[in-house]
Amino acid sequence: MLLNRHIEEAAKIIKRGGVVAFPTETVYGLGANALDPAAVAKIFALKERPVFDPLIVHIASVQDIAPLISVSDDRILLLADRFWPGPLTIVLPKSDIVPDIVTSGLPTVGIRIPDNEIALELIRLSGSPISAPSANKFGRISPTDAKHVRRQLPDLECILDGGSTKVGIESTVISLNRDGFIILREGFITSEELETIIPKSKSRSTDAPLASPGLLKSHYSPQKPIFIEDELTQKSIAFLKESDSSKGAYISFSGKSPREYSRVEYLSHTADLKEAAVNLFGILHTLEECDGVEFIVSESVPERGIGLAIMDRLRKASYRYR
Ligand code: TXA
Ligand code: MG
Repeated sequence: MLLNRHIEEAAKIIKRGGVVAFPTETVYGLGANALDPAAVAKIFALKERPVFDPLIVHIASVQDIAPLISVSDDRILLLADRFWPGPLTIVLPKSDIVPDIVTSGLPTVGIRIPDNEIALELIRLSGSPISAPSANKFGRISPTDAKHVRRQLPDLECILDGGSTKVGIESTVISLNRDGFIILREGFITSEELETIIPKSKSRSTDAPLASPGLLKSHYSPQKPIFIEDELTQKSIAFLKESDSSKGAYISFSGKSPREYSRVEYLSHTADLKEAAVNLFGILHTLEECDGVEFIVSESVPERGIGLAIMDRLRKASYRYR
């Protein structure tokens, strides 16, 4: 059980310019005072994250957004009403108080209200917005449990342990243009859900540069070769032919369990995409840690709804082994 005292201590660390890891509903974040450039620089150093990769700013209530942005747009309130607190990040023109290091020099800032009581209390007690990327080393698997954070960032002074995250996959990142929203990164909130509130833009023209690392081809990688069963390249077919399949693990979505693999992990037992999203990163962490496993083959999931975000993460994880 996480005590209020721990959150208070974490807030003190944030107030004095330090960095703490905390749970959100999606993945664990590595947070610092978003308005303090020196504090934010520590996040980049700890994560070994390139400075061209902007951070999401987390706030605790809709009123906190006004000082951070330089526009007024009724659509923000419509989206906030429906999706906040929750896994939606909205990229908007920033105000001058948001330091350049947070946005990698971009004129826009990504903002969200996380749906997690520990995160919200931390933001409130810190008295400032908290910028936070996922609490993993750059390019590695996002953490959905405090122990994943501890494994990648063992020297971190403070990790608030809120157990396993309930959503398990990162927020959907969108920007707005005149005719609607544009998805910059697929996430838990689907395009269909967003379209019930505002239209999807017909063009992809946006104020937000698309050079968003969420859009990098390689990301979220386990430290072992991983392949998507339906998307094998010549190179990966050759790799699999030469390997001993008893050293392989299979990630199953449909429930099938090919006998040649020594280990099978199930994204879902009922082919449920939301359950698969919750389990994906945890399974990748488990297989990355498991000594007997030398490579991973994953079944595809249907590319609809949240399946789009799952396939996006799987493709990025497997990209460098293609
Ligand atoms: O669920 C989440 O979004 C988690 C939790 C901790 O909130 N955070 C997260 O942060 O996934 P990170 O840094 O791993 O990914 C943030 C994504 C990146 O793809 C980044 O490029 C994009 O958001 N982003 C942030 N600010 C942006 C901006 N101003 N313009 C375009 N993309 C932006
Ligand atoms: Mg990340």
